[in-house]
Amino acid sequence: MRLRTETPADHEAVAAVVTAAFGRTQEALLVDLVRRSEHFDPHLSLVAETGGRIVGHVLFSRVGLQGSGPAEVYALAPLAVHPDHQRIGIGSALVEEGLRRLDAMGEPLVVLEGIPSYYPRFGFVPASQHGMSPPDSGVPDEAFMIRRLAGYDPAIVGTIAYPSAFYASEALGP
Ligand SMILES: CC(C)(COP(=O)(O)OP(=O)(O)OC[C@H]1O[C@@H](n2cnc3c(N)ncnc32)[C@H](O)[C@@H]1OP(=O)(O)O)[C@@H](O)C(=O)NCCC(=O)NCCS
Repeated sequence: MRLRTETPADHEAVAAVVTAAFGRTQEALLVDLVRRSEHFDPHLSLVAETGGRIVGHVLFSRVGLQGSGPAEVYALAPLAVHPDHQRIGIGSALVEEGLRRLDAMGEPLVVLEGIPSYYPRFGFVPASQHGMSPPDSGVPDEAFMIRRLAGYDPAIVGTIAYPSAFYASEALGP
């Protein structure tokens, strides 16, 4: 398995993997809309390949932070591994590589909304433990998580504001 930065030639294959993983198109649409926005960082859209075929993808992109600290932080969304290739470490490898790149950039933290039983293995904890809130009060506390990075500063607290791509993909899905 090989991890690398996504290129434009991968867009179609990434959409297929993300759609297959989630069983709907909403998350693939999110990837597409973020790519076209100013919140996209091409260095943080990663693919996993086996035998020349893309079988996994993760996107980290910038979201707003209303509070104290930087105006933007990174969020992980979405993470997808093709159903034929799940549970063999590909999702973990994608997350670890993204965290490594963000650490190298000096970023303070990453947030995500996701499966509470999956992400703690990478050091994610409920964001409320560190003064961070989700944009929507309907998100269960344990599902909105934060991973502190080397550049973390406890003075960074606040509420996350998702860019419009997040809401547009929800509205236009499945
Ligand atoms: C969740 C997902 C990204 C994990 O990727 P993966 O490559 O299968 O995961 P890994 O092989 O790195 O890790 C396997 C571990 O994850 C756990 N895991 C996998 N899917 C899980 C799920 N849906 N809920 C809870 N745990 C899950 C497995 O139990 C396994 O744990 P173990 O090592 O203790 O046995 C992948 O299953 C997927 O794409 N699912 C559909 C889309 C999705 O739900 N994305 C995440 C949304 S937050």
